[in-house]
Amino acid sequence: MPYALVTGASKGIGKAIALELAKYSYDILLTARSADLLKAAADEIKEKYPVKVAFLALDLSLSKSPQNLHNWCIEHNYDVEVLVNNAGFGLSGPFDSVKPEENASMLQLNVIVPTLLCQLFVPLLKNKKQAYILNIISSAAYQAVPLLSIYSASKAYLLNFTRALHHELKKTNISVTAVSPGPTDTDWIHTARVTGKALKVAGKVHMQPSEVARIAVKAMFRKKIEVIVGMMNQAGAFFAWLLPKKFVERTASKMYE
Ligand SMILES: NC(=O)c1ccc[n+]([C@@H]2O[C@H](COP(=O)([O-])OP(=O)(O)OC[C@H]3O[C@@H](n4cnc5c(N)ncnc54)[C@H](OP(=O)(O)O)[C@@H]3O)[C@@H](O)[C@H]2O)c1
Repeated sequence: MPYALVTGASKGIGKAIALELAKYSYDILLTARSADLLKAAADEIKEKYPVKVAFLALDLSLSKSPQNLHNWCIEHNYDVEVLVNNAGFGLSGPFDSVKPEENASMLQLNVIVPTLLCQLFVPLLKNKKQAYILNIISSAAYQAVPLLSIYSASKAYLLNFTRALHHELKKTNISVTAVSPGPTDTDWIHTARVTGKALKVAGKVHMQPSEVARIAVKAMFRKKIEVIVGMMNQAGAFFAWLLPKKFVERTASKMYE
């Protein structure tokens, strides 16, 4: 079978997407930094599904990593048919409280890496009968979020880029899909150092990564351009579009105070 390559696949939504794609009989390529978690994820996938799984531990935020990941696939003759750009993280708090190198790393992972991986893999994907790119965005892409400013802006970039790429590749064999989860029960919230009201609300409304993965993969195979996961997150994006921006931003700001 052809391979599906999933970034940020050691845990959370990425691991759940890898498991979901294995259900569709894809052989799986996993990447993230934590070799031990990647090995555990690979073992779990192989135990559950009769597919091949390989993994590469690397820090994608380093500038040469996208090219190194691409080289690894070529050197091993991995026949990639699905690219899932999932790796990403957020950092909450006042803009100037975050170290510049942390912001740079977030922008690298959330913006540059998925862009370059699309660019590197499109020529390979063009050789397939049908190929897919799935970019994991966020409900935070639908408005400016004070105290989560760089993360929400990075995801707005990825959403617009994904939509544009979908149109550019419309007449080709490659379908490009943007999927935006809302709060999901993963380590994201702890990495983002979210506290206060936002933490409490997320704990009450979050979805499970397996459910997010099921919806995301279904949307990808249906060649959807953009899907917001869950009715509450869809309503949130609708009201963010409908209501005055100042009101929406003030409300979001109070969540992250
Ligand atoms: N959870 C939510 O509420 C939520 C909501 C909307 C959107 N999202 C998006 O969903 C995606 C997945 O997040 P998640 O919720 O599953 O979070 P998570 O549990 O923290 O998983 C993040 C994944 O990215 C990998 N990663 C982080 N930094 C990396 C780096 N420098 N190089 C390579 N891999 C790296 C992590 O593995 P290692 O640590 O092993 O590297 C892990 O596999 C992200 O793009 C996130 O922005 C999440």
